[in-house]
Amino acid sequence: MKIAIMGAMPEEIAPLLEYFKVYETIVYANNSFYKTTYKNHEIIIAYSKIGKVNAAITALSLIQKFGCEQLLFSGVAGAISKDLSIGDLIVATALAQHDLDISAFGHPYGFVPEGSVFEKADARLIAIAKKVAQEKGIKLKEGIIATGDQFICDSTKKEWIAKTFDASALEMEGASVALTCNALGVKFFILRSISDAADMDASFDFDTFLQSSASVSADFIMAMVDRLVDDQA
Ligand code: ADE
Repeated sequence: MKIAIMGAMPEEIAPLLEYFKVYETIVYANNSFYKTTYKNHEIIIAYSKIGKVNAAITALSLIQKFGCEQLLFSGVAGAISKDLSIGDLIVATALAQHDLDISAFGHPYGFVPEGSVFEKADARLIAIAKKVAQEKGIKLKEGIIATGDQFICDSTKKEWIAKTFDASALEMEGASVALTCNALGVKFFILRSISDAADMDASFDFDTFLQSSASVSADFIMAMVDRLVDDQA
């Protein structure tokens, strides 16, 4: 099985590269892909750079160029839900693009013709994650994640995203990864650990907690990888 592990920023994949230690670096599409072998399975790790377009390019490369059959995303997010604190984990059940707007033509926010507002994540991978979390005594929330090409640091904007998409957290890549994977029939899993509350303190909190929250997410992704490869054995 070929598994992709993707982040958006170097800090989001650094703990994974540290974990695997030995890997081959392949440069493709103006990006670096890190290839390693783990328990007889191939794992390709990459960070996309921030934003929906970069994330779609990287997800597409992981699938089409590197032949990955499953994609796990690890990173940080801004909290919307009141029961998410810094360092908490959330897995996306579905994802929407909060900045996609042709409402001038009577369409709902996040919708374009022939598309849908929400991209659903893979139920089996979510079920595996819940099991892993339960066994390890880790709190794992599930919910809708909203994605857009904006760092949100404003409570009014955050509330609008919460209300419009019923979202629990927000970030800048997940929905485009989801769209890419669903278009190509590849199962995916989007995990985020909270770095900030998308409010007026968000940029300070993000800088403060990026590394620690990225590590929380990466550690859980490793537990998921273990489970996925053990299930295949
Ligand atoms: N990722 C982490 N925090 C975020 C925020 N406040 N806005 C957008 N993406 C984020």
